[in-house]
Amino acid sequence: MLDIKIELTKTPKAKPADESKLGFGKIFTDHMFLMDYEAGKGWHDPRIVPYAPFELDPACVVFHYAQEIFEGMKAYRTADNTIQLFRPECNAARMQDSSDRLCIPKIPVEDYIQAVNELVKVEQDWVPHTDGASLYIRPFVFATDVGLGVHASKRYIFAIICAPSGAYYAEGINPVRIYVEDEYIRAAPGLTGFTKCGGNYAASIKAGELAEEQGYAQVLWLDGVEKKYVEEVGSMNIMFKIDGKIYTAATVGTVLPGVTRRSCIELLRNWGYEVIEGKLAIADIMQASREGKLEEVFGTGTAAVVSPVKELVWKDEHAFIGEGKIGPVTQKLYDTLTGIQWGKLPDPFGWTRVVK
Ligand code: COI
Repeated sequence: MLDIKIELTKTPKAKPADESKLGFGKIFTDHMFLMDYEAGKGWHDPRIVPYAPFELDPACVVFHYAQEIFEGMKAYRTADNTIQLFRPECNAARMQDSSDRLCIPKIPVEDYIQAVNELVKVEQDWVPHTDGASLYIRPFVFATDVGLGVHASKRYIFAIICAPSGAYYAEGINPVRIYVEDEYIRAAPGLTGFTKCGGNYAASIKAGELAEEQGYAQVLWLDGVEKKYVEEVGSMNIMFKIDGKIYTAATVGTVLPGVTRRSCIELLRNWGYEVIEGKLAIADIMQASREGKLEEVFGTGTAAVVSPVKELVWKDEHAFIGEGKIGPVTQKLYDTLTGIQWGKLPDPFGWTRVVK
């Protein structure tokens, strides 16, 4: 159990006046959680302090070699004003897997959850009251050793910041257009695709920018070896409903094991759908579209929630899905998941955890 010291700000910021215009990750709350690591001493000095810039040496390892990992979570306000988290133990466990791959010392699952819980408790007035808006939570760990040798750092900072946020996409729950990337890749076997490390996202920015210039919300990544099988989208996992069955990439090292992905699979299976986690060729998806069997496509992610896709473009071929409208399974998943998260529906799986 962490002994977290709390220093409250003397200059609290004004809360957003219009919660319908929050956007995603644009404004930040009054406080942040910090904890330091030093080899030989371990994780120490857990504290909640006023939100402020870091003072860091320009030669810090993170600036040069990107030894950094992060998580994404949300806190939701229910109708009776309790605040709850969604499966925080899954994020804590995933951060341990990311730590392992990036040679970063692990944070015990219970300490991670306690840190998130305590910060959200301090920031509870920042958790939005508006439907569809929540407090986005961004835990991250970065290397602070000073020096330009390429080695695992002996010092780190674990920080958590919070941003009251609305929908990730400007489109909201309206279906988005996705560009299937066939030049750049995001991951390959043996690399860091399964982790949430900043480097994965840095490598993805160029393709994302090019897709945006052409009016697409994000890119769909293909496998890094054959550029044949679908993997994930810029900020979410992706699922395809073809002829009644749901297909999604297996999380076998190159794909992020999303908490929302896992929750959607569990819901779908519970509803009796066959969900196939495995290799799905983009050519087969386009063929299914030509045959009228590509029924629904949707992304899943903490930030993106459940986001319908209305169009895929691969090379020069376009697949249009559901006449541009959200499909019934996508809608049911969105309603059920957000219903559980905001406490409007029962939580039969015990996924939520009240902040107290
Ligand atoms: C999340 O969904 O929480 C993520 O971390 C995706 C992010 C890149 C916006």
